[in-house]
Amino acid sequence: MRRVISLIDMDCFYAQVEQRDNPALWDQPVIVVQHSRQGVEGGILAVSYEARPFGVKRGMSVADAKLKCPQINVCHVPIGEYADKADIQKYRDASAEVFRVLNNFDTSIIVEKASVDEAFLDLTTYTNERLEELRENGNLEEFTAIEHLPTTFLATGEDVKENDHLREQMLTDFITGSLHSTENILLLIAACTVEAIRDRIHEETQFYCSAGVGNNKMMAKLVCARHKPRQQTLIPWVYVREILRTTPIGDVRGFGGKLGNRVQELLNITLMGEILEIDYSLLVESFPDQHEYLIAIAQGMCDEPVRPRKESSSIAVSKNFPGKLAIRTIQELRKWLDGLTKELAKRLWTDQNENKRTAENLVYSLLTEEGKPQKTLKINNYHPDVLFGQIWAAIKVLNRSNLANSEQGPWTPPILNISLSASRFQPGIPAATRSIKEFLGEKKRRKWVRQHAVYDENDGRADVIIEEPPPPKTPAASKPSTSTIGSVEYIVIDDSDEETAPPPPPKSTTNIDYITVDGKKISKKVFRNLPPEIKKQYEHRIALEEARLLKAKSDAKNSRKRAGPIKSDVQKTKKPKPLDSFFKKKT
Ligand code: TTP
Ligand code: CA
Ligand code: CA
Repeated sequence: MRRVISLIDMDCFYAQVEQRDNPALWDQPVIVVQHSRQGVEGGILAVSYEARPFGVKRGMSVADAKLKCPQINVCHVPIGEYADKADIQKYRDASAEVFRVLNNFDTSIIVEKASVDEAFLDLTTYTNERLEELRENGNLEEFTAIEHLPTTFLATGEDVKENDHLREQMLTDFITGSLHSTENILLLIAACTVEAIRDRIHEETQFYCSAGVGNNKMMAKLVCARHKPRQQTLIPWVYVREILRTTPIGDVRGFGGKLGNRVQELLNITLMGEILEIDYSLLVESFPDQHEYLIAIAQGMCDEPVRPRKESSSIAVSKNFPGKLAIRTIQELRKWLDGLTKELAKRLWTDQNENKRTAENLVYSLLTEEGKPQKTLKINNYHPDVLFGQIWAAIKVLNRSNLANSEQGPWTPPILNISLSASRFQPGIPAATRSIKEFLGEKKRRKWVRQHAVYDENDGRADVIIEEPPPPKTPAASKPSTSTIGSVEYIVIDDSDEETAPPPPPKSTTNIDYITVDGKKISKKVFRNLPPEIKKQYEHRIALEEARLLKAKSDAKNSRKRAGPIKSDVQKTKKPKPLDSFFKKKT
Protein backbone atom coordinates (compact mmCIF):
# COMPACT_ATOMS: atom_id res chain seq x y z
CA MET A 1 0.00 0.00 0.00
CA ARG A 2 1.38 3.40 -0.94
CA ARG A 3 1.55 6.00 1.81
CA VAL A 4 -0.19 9.36 1.72
CA ILE A 5 2.15 12.19 2.71
CA SER A 6 1.93 15.97 2.74
CA LEU A 7 4.43 18.76 3.26
CA ILE A 8 3.07 22.05 4.52
CA ASP A 9 5.35 25.09 4.19
CA MET A 10 4.50 28.58 5.38
CA ASP A 11 4.65 31.31 2.74
CA CYS A 12 7.45 33.91 3.22
CA PHE A 13 7.26 33.02 6.88
CA TYR A 14 9.25 35.71 8.71
CA ALA A 15 7.65 38.33 6.44
CA GLN A 16 4.16 37.13 7.41
CA VAL A 17 5.09 37.27 11.09
CA GLU A 18 6.04 40.93 10.57
CA GLN A 19 2.87 41.56 8.57
CA ARG A 20 0.74 40.15 11.35
CA ASP A 21 2.59 42.30 13.91
CA ASN A 22 1.91 45.38 11.80
CA PRO A 23 -1.25 44.73 9.74
CA ALA A 24 -0.62 47.79 7.55
CA LEU A 25 2.08 45.65 5.94
CA TRP A 26 -0.32 42.97 4.63
CA ASP A 27 -0.37 43.02 0.79
CA GLN A 28 2.72 45.24 0.78
CA PRO A 29 6.27 44.48 -0.36
CA VAL A 30 8.16 43.53 2.81
CA ILE A 31 11.61 42.18 3.53
CA VAL A 32 12.96 40.85 6.79
CA VAL A 33 16.60 41.67 7.30
CA GLN A 34 19.19 40.03 9.50
CA HIS A 35 20.23 42.31 12.37
CA SER A 36 23.05 44.68 11.61
CA ARG A 37 26.47 44.06 13.01
CA GLN A 38 28.93 46.85 13.68
CA GLY A 39 26.69 49.24 11.76
CA VAL A 40 26.59 47.10 8.60
CA GLU A 41 23.08 46.08 7.60
CA GLY A 42 22.59 42.30 7.38
CA GLY A 43 21.27 40.31 4.42
CA ILE A 44 17.63 39.63 3.51
CA LEU A 45 16.13 36.52 5.09
CA ALA A 46 12.53 36.67 3.87
CA VAL A 47 10.73 38.40 1.02
CA SER A 48 6.95 38.87 0.86
CA TYR A 49 5.28 37.72 -2.35
CA GLU A 50 4.39 41.33 -3.20
CA ALA A 51 8.13 42.16 -3.39
CA ARG A 52 9.10 39.16 -5.50
CA PRO A 53 7.88 40.44 -8.90
CA PHE A 54 10.37 43.35 -8.48
CA GLY A 55 13.22 40.88 -8.41
CA VAL A 56 13.89 41.20 -4.67
CA LYS A 57 15.49 37.98 -3.42
CA ARG A 58 16.79 36.41 -0.23
CA GLY A 59 20.48 37.09 0.39
CA MET A 60 20.40 40.40 -1.48
CA SER A 61 21.55 43.56 0.30
CA VAL A 62 18.92 46.03 1.47
CA ALA A 63 20.42 48.68 -0.82
CA ASP A 64 19.91 46.42 -3.86
CA ALA A 65 16.37 45.60 -2.76
CA LYS A 66 15.58 49.32 -2.48
CA LEU A 67 16.95 49.92 -5.97
CA LYS A 68 14.66 47.24 -7.34
CA CYS A 69 11.63 48.21 -5.26
CA PRO A 70 11.90 51.72 -3.75
CA GLN A 71 8.64 51.38 -1.80
CA ILE A 72 9.85 48.24 0.00
CA ASN A 73 9.13 47.97 3.75
CA VAL A 74 12.18 46.87 5.71
CA CYS A 75 11.71 44.89 8.94
CA HIS A 76 14.61 43.84 11.14
CA VAL A 77 15.08 40.66 13.11
CA PRO A 78 15.23 41.83 16.73
CA ILE A 79 18.59 41.83 18.49
CA GLY A 80 18.95 39.45 21.42
CA GLU A 81 18.72 40.76 24.93
CA TYR A 82 22.06 39.50 26.15
CA ALA A 83 24.55 38.66 23.48
CA ASP A 84 24.06 41.08 20.56
CA LYS A 85 22.69 38.18 18.59
CA ALA A 86 19.62 37.90 16.40
CA ASP A 87 16.64 37.00 18.55
CA ILE A 88 14.41 34.78 16.45
CA GLN A 89 12.16 33.91 19.38
CA LYS A 90 9.15 35.67 17.89
CA TYR A 91 9.38 33.54 14.74
CA ARG A 92 9.80 30.44 16.90
CA ASP A 93 6.70 31.41 18.88
CA ALA A 94 4.75 31.95 15.66
CA SER A 95 5.97 28.55 14.48
CA ALA A 96 4.74 26.97 17.73
CA GLU A 97 1.27 28.43 17.05
CA VAL A 98 1.21 26.75 13.65
CA PHE A 99 2.38 23.45 15.11
CA ARG A 100 -0.32 23.59 17.76
CA VAL A 101 -2.90 23.67 14.97
CA LEU A 102 -1.20 20.81 13.13
CA ASN A 103 -0.80 18.66 16.24
CA ASN A 104 -4.41 19.17 17.25
CA PHE A 105 -6.09 18.58 13.91
CA ASP A 106 -6.53 14.84 14.22
CA THR A 107 -4.77 12.26 16.34
CA SER A 108 -4.40 9.80 13.45
CA ILE A 109 -2.27 12.28 11.50
CA ILE A 110 1.46 11.99 12.25
CA VAL A 111 3.22 15.37 12.29
CA GLU A 112 6.96 15.81 11.85
CA LYS A 113 8.47 19.23 12.31
CA ALA A 114 10.89 19.61 9.41
CA SER A 115 11.93 23.21 10.08
CA VAL A 116 10.67 26.39 11.71
CA ASP A 117 8.01 26.74 8.99
CA GLU A 118 7.60 23.27 7.54
CA ALA A 119 5.94 20.03 8.56
CA PHE A 120 5.53 16.61 7.02
CA LEU A 121 2.21 14.92 7.68
CA ASP A 122 1.56 11.21 7.30
CA LEU A 123 -2.10 11.00 6.35
CA THR A 124 -2.14 7.27 5.49
CA THR A 125 -4.19 6.10 8.47
CA TYR A 126 -6.40 9.18 8.46
CA THR A 127 -7.32 8.96 4.78
CA ASN A 128 -8.00 5.22 4.95
CA GLU A 129 -10.32 5.76 7.92
CA ARG A 130 -12.11 8.57 6.09
CA LEU A 131 -12.44 6.44 2.95
CA GLU A 132 -14.07 3.65 4.92
CA GLU A 133 -16.54 6.10 6.48
CA LEU A 134 -17.32 7.72 3.14
CA ARG A 135 -17.90 4.35 1.49
CA GLU A 136 -20.28 3.35 4.29
CA ASN A 137 -22.17 6.63 4.04
CA GLY A 138 -22.21 6.59 0.26
CA ASN A 139 -21.12 10.21 -0.27
CA LEU A 140 -17.62 9.62 -1.57
CA GLU A 141 -18.21 11.40 -4.88
CA GLU A 142 -19.49 14.47 -3.13
CA PHE A 143 -16.52 14.58 -0.79
CA THR A 144 -13.93 14.39 -3.54
CA ALA A 145 -15.65 17.06 -5.67
CA ILE A 146 -13.73 19.99 -7.08
CA GLU A 147 -15.47 22.47 -4.71
CA HIS A 148 -13.45 20.99 -1.88
CA LEU A 149 -10.20 21.64 -3.73
CA PRO A 150 -10.30 25.40 -4.42
CA THR A 151 -6.53 25.94 -4.31
CA THR A 152 -5.34 22.54 -5.54
CA PHE A 153 -3.25 22.03 -8.66
CA LEU A 154 -2.49 18.68 -10.23
CA ALA A 155 1.21 18.18 -11.01
CA THR A 156 1.11 16.68 -14.46
CA GLY A 157 4.04 18.50 -16.04
CA GLU A 158 1.52 20.69 -17.87
CA ASP A 159 0.67 22.61 -14.70
CA VAL A 160 2.78 25.63 -15.57
CA LYS A 161 1.95 29.29 -14.97
CA GLU A 162 0.77 29.82 -18.55
CA ASN A 163 -1.79 27.06 -18.09
CA ASP A 164 -3.34 28.38 -14.85
CA HIS A 165 -6.73 28.50 -16.56
CA LEU A 166 -6.54 24.71 -17.05
CA ARG A 167 -6.37 24.02 -13.30
CA GLU A 168 -10.03 23.10 -12.89
CA GLN A 169 -10.13 21.15 -16.11
CA MET A 170 -7.10 19.00 -15.23
CA LEU A 171 -8.42 18.36 -11.75
CA THR A 172 -11.95 17.49 -12.91
CA ASP A 173 -10.59 15.02 -15.44
CA PHE A 174 -8.42 13.43 -12.77
CA ILE A 175 -11.31 13.13 -10.28
CA THR A 176 -13.58 11.57 -12.90
CA GLY A 177 -10.92 9.06 -13.90
CA SER A 178 -10.04 8.20 -10.29
CA LEU A 179 -13.28 6.93 -8.85
CA HIS A 180 -12.20 3.32 -9.21
CA SER A 181 -8.65 3.84 -8.00
CA THR A 182 -8.38 3.58 -4.24
CA GLU A 183 -4.87 5.00 -4.41
CA ASN A 184 -6.05 8.17 -6.18
CA ILE A 185 -9.11 8.55 -3.99
CA LEU A 186 -6.87 8.48 -0.91
CA LEU A 187 -4.77 11.26 -2.45
CA LEU A 188 -7.91 13.28 -3.19
CA ILE A 189 -9.15 12.84 0.38
CA ALA A 190 -5.71 13.94 1.56
CA ALA A 191 -5.83 17.03 -0.68
CA CYS A 192 -9.28 17.96 0.71
CA THR A 193 -7.98 17.46 4.23
CA VAL A 194 -4.89 19.57 3.62
CA GLU A 195 -7.12 22.35 2.24
CA ALA A 196 -9.01 22.19 5.55
CA ILE A 197 -5.82 22.14 7.62
CA ARG A 198 -4.48 25.19 5.77
CA ASP A 199 -7.79 27.00 6.35
CA ARG A 200 -7.56 26.13 10.04
CA ILE A 201 -3.99 27.46 10.23
CA HIS A 202 -5.17 30.71 8.67
CA GLU A 203 -8.19 31.00 10.96
CA GLU A 204 -6.14 30.45 14.08
CA THR A 205 -2.91 32.25 13.22
CA GLN A 206 -3.70 34.52 10.24
CA PHE A 207 -0.81 32.90 8.36
CA TYR A 208 -1.04 31.55 4.83
CA CYS A 209 0.78 28.47 3.67
CA SER A 210 1.24 26.14 0.72
CA ALA A 211 1.41 22.36 0.53
CA GLY A 212 2.35 19.35 -1.52
CA VAL A 213 0.49 16.02 -1.40
CA GLY A 214 1.91 12.76 -2.76
CA ASN A 215 2.99 9.26 -1.85
CA ASN A 216 6.23 10.09 -0.04
CA LYS A 217 8.20 12.88 1.57
CA MET A 218 10.41 13.56 -1.39
CA MET A 219 7.54 14.08 -3.86
CA ALA A 220 5.36 16.03 -1.38
CA LYS A 221 8.25 18.43 -0.72
CA LEU A 222 9.15 18.74 -4.38
CA VAL A 223 5.68 19.65 -5.61
CA CYS A 224 4.93 21.98 -2.69
CA ALA A 225 7.11 24.61 -4.36
CA ARG A 226 5.26 24.30 -7.73
CA HIS A 227 2.32 26.49 -6.80
CA LYS A 228 2.97 29.10 -4.15
CA PRO A 229 1.75 31.11 -2.27
CA ARG A 230 -1.59 30.11 -0.71
CA GLN A 231 -1.96 27.07 -2.97
CA GLN A 232 -1.26 23.36 -2.97
CA THR A 233 -0.18 20.72 -5.43
CA LEU A 234 -1.21 17.08 -5.72
CA ILE A 235 1.13 14.62 -7.40
CA PRO A 236 -0.52 11.30 -8.29
CA TRP A 237 1.92 8.40 -8.71
CA VAL A 238 1.23 8.18 -12.43
CA TYR A 239 2.81 11.61 -13.04
CA VAL A 240 5.87 11.16 -10.83
CA ARG A 241 8.22 10.07 -13.62
CA GLU A 242 7.08 12.90 -15.86
CA ILE A 243 7.67 15.50 -13.17
CA LEU A 244 11.16 14.15 -12.32
CA ARG A 245 12.06 14.04 -16.01
CA THR A 246 12.12 17.84 -16.03
CA THR A 247 13.18 18.51 -12.41
CA PRO A 248 16.60 20.15 -11.87
CA ILE A 249 18.69 17.85 -9.65
CA GLY A 250 19.30 20.55 -7.03
CA ASP A 251 15.53 21.00 -6.49
CA VAL A 252 15.14 17.52 -4.97
CA ARG A 253 15.34 17.29 -1.18
CA GLY A 254 18.86 16.17 -0.21
CA PHE A 255 20.37 17.09 -3.60
CA GLY A 256 20.78 20.85 -3.08
CA GLY A 257 24.36 20.49 -1.83
CA LYS A 258 27.44 18.34 -2.34
CA LEU A 259 25.68 15.15 -3.47
CA GLY A 260 23.63 16.99 -6.09
CA ASN A 261 26.74 18.76 -7.39
CA ARG A 262 28.67 15.51 -7.63
CA VAL A 263 25.82 13.82 -9.51
CA GLN A 264 25.73 16.68 -12.00
CA GLU A 265 29.49 16.83 -12.43
CA LEU A 266 30.33 13.13 -12.59
CA LEU A 267 27.38 12.15 -14.77
CA ASN A 268 27.29 15.39 -16.76
CA ILE A 269 23.53 15.82 -16.35
CA THR A 270 21.26 18.51 -14.87
CA LEU A 271 17.82 16.85 -14.54
CA MET A 272 16.75 14.15 -12.08
CA GLY A 273 15.15 11.92 -14.73
CA GLU A 274 18.41 11.79 -16.66
CA ILE A 275 19.88 9.47 -14.03
CA LEU A 276 17.71 6.70 -15.51
CA GLU A 277 19.29 7.22 -18.92
CA ILE A 278 22.89 6.88 -17.67
CA ASP A 279 24.76 3.72 -18.52
CA TYR A 280 24.47 1.43 -15.49
CA SER A 281 28.18 0.64 -15.32
CA LEU A 282 29.08 4.34 -15.29
CA LEU A 283 26.57 4.90 -12.50
CA VAL A 284 28.10 2.06 -10.43
CA GLU A 285 31.60 3.28 -11.13
CA SER A 286 30.81 6.89 -10.19
CA PHE A 287 28.67 6.07 -7.15
CA PRO A 288 29.67 2.58 -5.95
CA ASP A 289 27.71 2.88 -2.70
CA GLN A 290 24.88 5.10 -3.82
CA HIS A 291 23.87 3.98 -7.33
CA GLU A 292 20.81 2.07 -6.16
CA TYR A 293 19.68 4.98 -4.04
CA LEU A 294 20.09 7.34 -7.01
CA ILE A 295 18.01 5.11 -9.28
CA ALA A 296 15.27 4.85 -6.64
CA ILE A 297 15.16 8.64 -6.20
CA ALA A 298 15.08 9.20 -9.97
CA GLN A 299 12.03 6.91 -10.05
CA GLY A 300 10.41 8.95 -7.27
CA MET A 301 10.78 6.27 -4.61
CA CYS A 302 11.52 7.25 -1.02
CA ASP A 303 10.53 5.27 2.03
CA GLU A 304 11.72 7.66 4.73
CA PRO A 305 9.09 7.60 7.48
CA VAL A 306 7.36 10.67 8.91
CA ARG A 307 8.70 10.77 12.44
CA PRO A 308 6.80 12.61 15.11
CA ARG A 309 9.49 15.00 16.26
CA LYS A 310 8.13 17.92 18.18
CA GLU A 311 11.19 18.83 20.18
CA SER A 312 14.77 19.41 19.17
CA SER A 313 17.42 17.22 20.75
CA SER A 314 19.72 20.10 21.65
CA ILE A 315 19.47 23.78 22.48
CA ALA A 316 22.48 25.83 21.51
CA VAL A 317 23.74 29.40 21.46
CA SER A 318 26.78 30.47 19.56
CA LYS A 319 28.54 33.64 18.48
CA ASN A 320 31.28 34.30 15.94
CA PHE A 321 34.10 36.78 16.48
CA PRO A 322 35.78 36.84 13.09
CA GLY A 323 39.05 38.59 12.23
CA LYS A 324 39.59 41.77 14.20
CA LEU A 325 36.61 41.01 16.43
CA ALA A 326 38.41 37.97 17.94
CA ILE A 327 38.29 37.92 21.75
CA ARG A 328 41.67 38.83 23.25
CA THR A 329 40.98 39.69 26.89
CA ILE A 330 39.58 37.85 29.88
CA GLN A 331 37.08 40.64 30.51
CA GLU A 332 35.74 40.42 26.98
CA LEU A 333 35.45 36.65 27.21
CA ARG A 334 33.62 36.84 30.54
CA LYS A 335 31.25 39.47 29.16
CA TRP A 336 30.29 37.40 26.11
CA LEU A 337 30.15 34.19 28.07
CA ASP A 338 27.82 35.85 30.56
CA GLY A 339 25.51 37.06 27.78
CA LEU A 340 25.47 33.71 26.01
CA THR A 341 24.89 31.83 29.26
CA LYS A 342 21.88 34.02 30.06
CA GLU A 343 20.54 33.54 26.55
CA LEU A 344 20.96 29.78 26.91
CA ALA A 345 19.40 29.72 30.40
CA LYS A 346 16.40 31.67 29.13
CA ARG A 347 15.86 29.21 26.30
CA LEU A 348 16.39 26.22 28.58
CA TRP A 349 13.84 27.56 31.02
CA THR A 350 11.28 28.12 28.28
CA ASP A 351 11.92 24.63 26.98
CA GLN A 352 11.61 23.18 30.47
CA ASN A 353 8.22 24.81 30.93
CA GLU A 354 6.93 23.84 27.52
CA ASN A 355 8.31 20.34 27.22
CA LYS A 356 8.68 19.25 30.84
CA ARG A 357 12.21 18.06 30.25
CA THR A 358 15.65 18.99 31.49
CA ALA A 359 19.03 18.96 29.81
CA GLU A 360 21.70 16.90 31.45
CA ASN A 361 24.79 17.88 29.45
CA LEU A 362 26.32 21.14 28.38
CA VAL A 363 29.07 21.20 25.77
CA TYR A 364 31.16 24.32 25.43
CA SER A 365 33.52 24.89 22.56
CA LEU A 366 35.92 27.73 21.84
CA LEU A 367 37.17 28.10 18.30
CA THR A 368 40.70 29.52 18.00
CA GLU A 369 43.23 29.49 15.19
CA GLU A 370 45.03 26.74 17.03
CA GLY A 371 42.12 24.41 17.53
CA LYS A 372 38.69 24.00 19.03
CA PRO A 373 38.85 22.89 22.66
CA GLN A 374 35.54 21.54 23.85
CA LYS A 375 34.27 19.72 26.88
CA THR A 376 31.05 18.23 28.21
CA LEU A 377 29.87 19.43 31.60
CA LYS A 378 27.02 18.05 33.71
CA ILE A 379 24.24 20.57 34.21
CA ASN A 380 23.04 20.64 37.79
CA ASN A 381 21.11 23.86 37.68
CA TYR A 382 19.72 26.17 34.99
CA HIS A 383 20.48 29.29 36.98
CA PRO A 384 22.61 31.53 34.69
CA ASP A 385 25.04 32.35 37.50
CA VAL A 386 25.53 28.68 38.33
CA LEU A 387 25.98 27.79 34.65
CA PHE A 388 28.42 30.65 34.18
CA GLY A 389 30.42 29.57 37.23
CA GLN A 390 30.67 26.00 35.96
CA ILE A 391 31.67 27.01 32.44
CA TRP A 392 34.15 29.64 33.60
CA ALA A 393 35.84 27.20 35.98
CA ALA A 394 36.38 24.82 33.08
CA ILE A 395 37.36 27.43 30.52
CA LYS A 396 39.73 29.69 32.45
CA VAL A 397 42.49 27.10 32.52
CA LEU A 398 42.64 27.28 28.72
CA ASN A 399 44.14 30.76 28.84
CA ARG A 400 47.74 30.52 27.78
CA SER A 401 48.69 34.01 28.88
CA ASN A 402 50.61 34.33 32.16
CA LEU A 403 47.65 35.62 34.09
CA ALA A 404 45.74 32.38 33.69
CA ASN A 405 44.03 32.62 37.06
CA SER A 406 43.19 36.27 36.98
CA GLU A 407 39.78 37.81 36.30
CA GLN A 408 41.32 40.30 33.90
CA GLY A 409 44.22 40.61 31.49
CA PRO A 410 45.00 39.13 28.08
CA TRP A 411 43.60 35.89 26.69
CA THR A 412 45.55 33.74 24.27
CA PRO A 413 44.98 32.32 21.73
CA PRO A 414 42.28 34.72 20.44
CA ILE A 415 38.78 33.23 20.35
CA LEU A 416 36.86 33.22 17.06
CA ASN A 417 33.67 31.50 18.19
CA ILE A 418 31.98 30.52 21.44
CA SER A 419 29.28 27.82 21.40
CA LEU A 420 27.27 26.44 24.27
CA SER A 421 25.00 23.50 23.56
CA ALA A 422 22.71 21.73 26.03
CA SER A 423 21.61 18.19 25.27
CA ARG A 424 20.62 14.77 26.70
CA PHE A 425 17.18 15.84 27.77
CA GLN A 426 15.53 13.84 30.52
CA PRO A 427 11.81 13.91 31.21
CA GLY A 428 10.80 15.98 34.23
CA ILE A 429 12.09 18.96 36.15
CA PRO A 430 14.85 18.45 38.71
CA ALA A 431 14.09 19.73 42.16
CA ALA A 432 17.30 21.75 42.20
CA THR A 433 16.34 23.95 39.25
CA ARG A 434 12.97 24.98 40.59
CA SER A 435 12.82 28.21 42.50
CA ILE A 436 10.69 28.55 45.59
CA LYS A 437 8.39 30.69 43.51
CA GLU A 438 7.86 27.85 41.10
CA PHE A 439 7.31 25.48 43.98
CA LEU A 440 4.80 27.70 45.65
CA GLY A 441 3.26 29.83 42.99
CA GLU A 442 2.61 27.98 39.75
CA LYS A 443 -0.08 30.02 38.16
CA LYS A 444 -2.11 28.17 35.65
CA ARG A 445 -2.31 24.50 36.37
CA ARG A 446 -2.66 22.48 39.47
CA LYS A 447 0.21 20.09 39.54
CA TRP A 448 1.14 17.43 41.93
CA VAL A 449 4.66 17.64 43.09
CA ARG A 450 6.28 15.34 45.57
CA GLN A 451 5.24 17.56 48.42
CA HIS A 452 1.55 17.54 47.44
CA ALA A 453 1.49 21.28 47.18
CA VAL A 454 -1.92 22.59 46.21
CA TYR A 455 -1.89 25.66 44.05
CA ASP A 456 -4.74 28.06 44.07
CA GLU A 457 -5.46 28.62 40.39
CA ASN A 458 -7.48 31.75 40.87
CA ASP A 459 -5.10 33.99 42.64
CA GLY A 460 -1.79 33.26 41.03
CA ARG A 461 1.47 33.90 42.79
CA ALA A 462 0.75 36.10 45.76
CA ASP A 463 -1.51 34.21 48.11
CA VAL A 464 -0.73 30.62 47.57
CA ILE A 465 -1.93 28.18 50.16
CA ILE A 466 -0.03 25.02 50.69
CA GLU A 467 -1.34 22.22 52.75
CA GLU A 468 -1.12 18.57 53.41
CA PRO A 469 -3.60 16.80 51.14
CA PRO A 470 -5.80 13.91 52.20
CA PRO A 471 -4.55 10.58 50.84
CA PRO A 472 -5.41 10.35 47.15
CA LYS A 473 -7.79 7.61 46.05
CA THR A 474 -5.24 5.97 43.79
CA PRO A 475 -1.93 6.98 45.29
CA ALA A 476 0.26 5.18 42.81
CA ALA A 477 -1.32 6.85 39.82
CA SER A 478 -1.63 10.31 41.25
CA LYS A 479 1.83 10.80 42.71
CA PRO A 480 4.51 12.03 40.41
CA SER A 481 7.44 9.72 40.27
CA THR A 482 10.93 10.81 41.10
CA SER A 483 13.97 9.44 39.43
CA THR A 484 17.65 9.98 39.93
CA ILE A 485 19.91 10.80 37.03
CA GLY A 486 23.49 11.30 38.05
CA SER A 487 23.36 13.11 41.35
CA VAL A 488 20.25 15.09 40.48
CA GLU A 489 16.82 14.09 41.62
CA TYR A 490 14.09 14.77 39.07
CA ILE A 491 10.43 15.31 39.74
CA VAL A 492 8.59 13.68 36.87
CA ILE A 493 5.41 15.63 36.44
CA ASP A 494 2.44 13.90 34.94
CA ASP A 495 1.87 15.86 31.77
CA SER A 496 -1.27 14.08 30.63
CA ASP A 497 -4.52 15.92 29.93
CA GLU A 498 -6.34 17.66 32.74
CA GLU A 499 -9.20 15.19 32.31
CA THR A 500 -7.05 12.14 32.80
CA ALA A 501 -4.83 13.65 35.47
CA PRO A 502 -5.77 12.86 39.06
CA PRO A 503 -8.24 15.36 40.49
CA PRO A 504 -6.58 17.85 42.84
CA PRO A 505 -7.39 17.29 46.49
CA PRO A 506 -9.92 19.63 48.10
CA LYS A 507 -8.63 22.75 49.81
CA SER A 508 -8.54 23.09 53.55
CA THR A 509 -6.96 25.87 55.58
CA THR A 510 -7.68 24.78 59.10
CA ASN A 511 -5.38 23.28 61.75
CA ILE A 512 -2.17 23.85 59.86
CA ASP A 513 1.14 24.74 61.35
CA TYR A 514 2.22 27.59 59.06
CA ILE A 515 5.36 29.54 58.37
CA THR A 516 4.96 32.83 56.50
CA VAL A 517 7.51 33.73 53.84
CA ASP A 518 7.05 36.75 51.57
CA GLY A 519 3.44 36.90 52.69
CA LYS A 520 2.89 33.26 51.70
CA LYS A 521 1.80 30.64 54.18
CA ILE A 522 3.75 27.43 53.98
CA SER A 523 3.15 24.42 56.16
CA LYS A 524 6.28 23.54 58.11
CA LYS A 525 6.13 20.01 56.82
CA VAL A 526 6.10 21.17 53.23
CA PHE A 527 9.00 23.49 53.92
CA ARG A 528 11.02 20.62 55.35
CA ASN A 529 10.54 18.75 52.08
CA LEU A 530 11.73 21.53 49.79
CA PRO A 531 15.03 20.90 48.01
CA PRO A 532 18.04 21.99 50.04
CA GLU A 533 19.09 24.73 47.57
CA ILE A 534 15.76 26.45 47.96
CA LYS A 535 15.51 25.86 51.66
CA LYS A 536 18.93 27.40 52.16
CA GLN A 537 17.82 30.66 50.56
CA TYR A 538 14.96 30.99 53.01
CA GLU A 539 16.25 29.28 56.12
CA HIS A 540 17.82 32.38 57.55
CA ARG A 541 14.71 34.47 57.12
CA ILE A 542 12.49 31.77 58.52
CA ALA A 543 14.76 31.41 61.54
CA LEU A 544 14.46 35.17 62.07
CA GLU A 545 10.72 34.99 61.81
CA GLU A 546 10.49 32.09 64.22
CA ALA A 547 12.71 33.96 66.71
CA ARG A 548 10.53 37.01 66.31
CA LEU A 549 7.39 34.97 66.96
CA LEU A 550 8.95 33.41 70.04
CA LYS A 551 10.01 36.80 71.32
CA ALA A 552 6.57 38.24 70.68
CA LYS A 553 5.02 35.35 72.60
CA SER A 554 7.33 35.75 75.57
CA ASP A 555 6.92 39.53 75.56
CA ALA A 556 3.17 39.07 75.61
CA LYS A 557 3.47 36.64 78.46
CA ASN A 558 5.81 38.87 80.47
CA SER A 559 3.85 42.03 80.11
CA ARG A 560 0.48 40.19 80.18
CA LYS A 561 -0.53 42.60 77.51
CA ARG A 562 -2.08 41.77 74.18
CA ALA A 563 0.63 41.72 71.55
CA GLY A 564 0.03 44.37 68.87
CA PRO A 565 0.32 43.76 65.19
CA ILE A 566 3.73 42.33 64.54
CA LYS A 567 6.06 44.42 62.50
CA SER A 568 8.27 41.99 60.75
CA ASP A 569 12.06 42.22 60.98
CA VAL A 570 12.02 39.99 57.99
CA GLN A 571 11.02 42.90 55.79
CA LYS A 572 14.33 44.55 56.53
CA THR A 573 16.40 41.50 55.67
CA LYS A 574 17.86 41.41 52.21
CA LYS A 575 15.77 39.07 50.06
CA PRO A 576 17.45 36.48 47.87
CA LYS A 577 17.56 37.77 44.32
CA PRO A 578 14.54 36.40 42.45
CA LEU A 579 15.43 34.34 39.40
CA ASP A 580 13.37 36.58 37.13
CA SER A 581 15.71 39.46 37.81
CA PHE A 582 18.49 37.69 35.95
CA PHE A 583 16.41 37.96 32.81
CA LYS A 584 15.86 41.65 33.06
CA LYS A 585 18.13 43.68 30.86
CA LYS A 586 20.75 45.60 32.78
CA THR A 587 20.36 49.27 32.14
P1 TTP B 1 11.78 29.28 3.72
O1 TTP B 1 10.61 28.36 3.89
O2 TTP B 1 12.94 28.74 2.97
O3 TTP B 1 11.33 30.59 2.95
P2 TTP B 1 10.10 31.55 3.17
O4 TTP B 1 9.08 30.93 4.08
O5 TTP B 1 10.60 32.89 3.57
O6 TTP B 1 9.51 31.70 1.71
P3 TTP B 1 8.69 30.62 0.86
O7 TTP B 1 7.34 31.19 0.72
O8 TTP B 1 9.42 30.59 -0.44
O9 TTP B 1 8.72 29.33 1.56
O10 TTP B 1 12.30 29.77 5.12
C1 TTP B 1 11.41 29.99 6.21
C2 TTP B 1 11.93 31.14 7.05
O11 TTP B 1 13.19 30.78 7.60
C3 TTP B 1 12.16 32.40 6.27
O12 TTP B 1 10.99 33.22 6.24
C4 TTP B 1 13.30 33.06 6.97
C5 TTP B 1 14.05 31.93 7.64
N1 TTP B 1 15.31 31.62 6.92
C6 TTP B 1 16.50 32.17 7.39
O13 TTP B 1 16.51 32.88 8.40
N2 TTP B 1 17.66 31.90 6.73
C7 TTP B 1 17.69 31.12 5.62
O14 TTP B 1 18.78 30.90 5.05
C8 TTP B 1 16.47 30.54 5.14
C9 TTP B 1 16.46 29.67 3.94
C10 TTP B 1 15.31 30.83 5.82
CA1 CA C 1 8.37 28.77 3.73
CA1 CA D 1 10.51 26.18 4.60
